[in-house]
Amino acid sequence: FGLLKRVNAYLGEYLSKKSRNKESFSDNCFSRSSSNSSIVTEEGLFEQPEPLASGTAVMEKILLRRSSLLRDQQQAWQESLEGREMLEFRQSLPAYKEKDTILTAILQNQVVIISGETGCGKTTQIPQFILESEIDSARGAFCSIICTQPRRISAISVSERVASERGEKLGESVGYKVRLEGIKGRDTRLLFCTTGILLRRLLVDRNLKGVTHVIVDEIHERGMNEELKLILMSATLDAELFSSYFDGAPLIHIPGFTYPVRTHFLENILEMTGYRLTPSNQIDDYGQERMWKMSKQAPRKRKSQIVSSVEDALRAADFKDFSPQIQESLSCWNPDCIGFNLIEYLLSYICENERPGAVLVFMTGWDDISSLKDKLQAHPVLGDPSRVLLLTCHGSMASSEQKLIFEEPEDGVRKIVLTTNIAETSITINDVVFVLDCGKAKETSYDALNNTPCLLPSWVSKVSTQQRRGRAGRVQPGECYHLYPRCVYDAFTEYQLPEILRTPLQSLCLQIKSLKLGSISEFLSRALQSPKLLAVQNAIEYLKVIGALDENENLTVLVEPKLGKMLILGAILNCLDPVLTIVAGLSVRDPFLTPLDKKDLAETAKLQFSHDHSDHLALVRAYEGWKEAEKDLAGYDYCWKNFLSAQSMKAIDSLREEFLSLLKDTGLIDGYATSCNDWSYDQHLIRAIICYGLYPGICSVVHNEKSFSLKTMEDGPVLLYSNSVNARESRIPYPWLVFNEKIKVNSVFLRDSTAVSDSVLLLFGGSISRGDVLLNPQIVLHLHHELISAIRLLVSEDQCDGRFVFGRPD
Ligand code: CDP
Ligand code: MG
Repeated sequence: FGLLKRVNAYLGEYLSKKSRNKESFSDNCFSRSSSNSSIVTEEGLFEQPEPLASGTAVMEKILLRRSSLLRDQQQAWQESLEGREMLEFRQSLPAYKEKDTILTAILQNQVVIISGETGCGKTTQIPQFILESEIDSARGAFCSIICTQPRRISAISVSERVASERGEKLGESVGYKVRLEGIKGRDTRLLFCTTGILLRRLLVDRNLKGVTHVIVDEIHERGMNEELKLILMSATLDAELFSSYFDGAPLIHIPGFTYPVRTHFLENILEMTGYRLTPSNQIDDYGQERMWKMSKQAPRKRKSQIVSSVEDALRAADFKDFSPQIQESLSCWNPDCIGFNLIEYLLSYICENERPGAVLVFMTGWDDISSLKDKLQAHPVLGDPSRVLLLTCHGSMASSEQKLIFEEPEDGVRKIVLTTNIAETSITINDVVFVLDCGKAKETSYDALNNTPCLLPSWVSKVSTQQRRGRAGRVQPGECYHLYPRCVYDAFTEYQLPEILRTPLQSLCLQIKSLKLGSISEFLSRALQSPKLLAVQNAIEYLKVIGALDENENLTVLVEPKLGKMLILGAILNCLDPVLTIVAGLSVRDPFLTPLDKKDLAETAKLQFSHDHSDHLALVRAYEGWKEAEKDLAGYDYCWKNFLSAQSMKAIDSLREEFLSLLKDTGLIDGYATSCNDWSYDQHLIRAIICYGLYPGICSVVHNEKSFSLKTMEDGPVLLYSNSVNARESRIPYPWLVFNEKIKVNSVFLRDSTAVSDSVLLLFGGSISRGDVLLNPQIVLHLHHELISAIRLLVSEDQCDGRFVFGRPD
């Protein structure tokens, strides 16, 4: 294990060196003249060209020539018919009216903060203003503008939009880069990327050499080099807070225009059916909750009910006077999921009675959206494709699905989009007239006491509500239905808590260390809003347990530690092939797809890859099958049939290569000789390596008569995600599951897991002295014999090439 630590450290150092080398490689690429735009598949922003990097006169000349080409192109477009039409549209946006103010402010200040309502043109226009003014001044090829987006989807869709506003294809002056995917070319000067991509670049290049402007959209980012211009943008920012953080940086507000939106709260919606919901003057015993009165208006007076919460009011109401639809909807009201029937009722009301216009329904998350969609599809009107185009919009949707959202439906068809809060600020759907707002969003939060990330629906902020409402007034006066009463809204907080206060801080702490920003706790105490001390301590402790930080909080690795550990052990124990696949699989988006409407089929499809209680081994088989199919050029069909993402499979393929070359460079393996795979068939051994990597992600399996339950030390009972192969089993013939990730959604859920035996946990799960691994000392006694023989096997050195070879634990 001492050896492993050293190799780990070396691997880390090596990685950072390699990244640096890559960058100088990209300089060479840049001076060569490859004319076509390239599809970028590599990690990071390393391909960003570096103008003036070499500083030679020749370079300067090339750049000047390219600048004037860029200018000619831009002028030609602006003078063309389409270009003029496009310009007219752009000039109608509020941001355009502030163009000169904004450009002057950027010229005169290093940091500028810009606020303006969603849709006013911040994201699409401001980076373009900078680009155009650089190109107009004939220094276009000297600039390099990066604009970060919080999500992949917005980075892609915005870059497409900006390219088309400039009359170009992606990869000319505008490009994008998200993890494992991107399009940029030789002349790309404006790059939209995710925040993660920029952070990763900062790891290897703190000064962002060659970059002239960084625009952080929907801000939560700070601190850059001295020549760099930093522009921070948001629809809803607490502008003063940011301005004072940046020593009084100037603030520009773009005044917006939206049509009036009529607001209906729950009481108004109920009134549509003759009911009245009013806050009562009585205060309950604790003086905290509002009391509610629910009464039917004339003609028939009934004693009103007084209850303590809206949910209770709706449940306690005697529904017999309601219309049948409302009766049904209210009886299903559930404080944690929203009133599906009420939504269905309102949607069908809009479809039957209202003027044309798209409907945007804000839901809490993917699972809500999926069940609501199922329900609506069974409805005679809403499920009829000749009348309703029913679409969904969430962070994990495919790019093809995404395009549909922006398209206008045929005449007579109403577009209904069920969305998460992604459509609140990052994505603008133009033709929306009606908005339904459930008032909640799934927010990641972090329970520092139990060290568990949670994803629970909670009430949104006032600012979010205003955003949601504003979506209805973009093209004409609109209507917004809030599915909660006015005074619930009054109790909302003004702004949402920033992410740093709601998530576990492990990866942030690693970033602080790799950026060499000094002591973690000291750095975080200087943050815009500092996280709790306990959360910081938990993160540091975790990083120490997995060996990413040493006792003095110094960094030991730069790769994601658990992945690095697995690779090294896979190489040493000669079972590299499956380990490469597992590690690559853990680095990409889950390749097992679960489409909303075919969840069951998809989960059954995954099961055929599993006969050993392991999602990780199921992935290995799925990948091997895909590889086989690729030989006959049938990879795509194979993915389609088996509910696999072809994109993820390809990503796994290229990551495997990347990891392999990394291992070769460390000298751990000498090429992909068969000897590194002597033991690749041995699933016991692979399990052990998975355990070594994922520890301390571990839970115990307790069987009862018909099934089993799971428990972790920190959370008590936990559950498995339904697409885990272990979720379909009634027995698991091992006492432990190791897992990669857990998350709290009502209960604590585990994602992919692998079952392991006592001896594997004992040998590969952290250090034996830690009492928290061995929940029960009896286990140690029971294992004594097995343990000794396993260790004997482990250390037997009678192998001819001097490498350790590990036998099966049994
Ligand atoms: O960033 P911000 O919310 O201020 O607005 P934006 O994303 O720059 O969008 C400005 C305008 O461009 C929107 O109001 C839409 O009319 C239009 N737009 C579009 O038509 N198609 C897109 N994919 C994005 C924006
Ligand atoms: Mg925007």
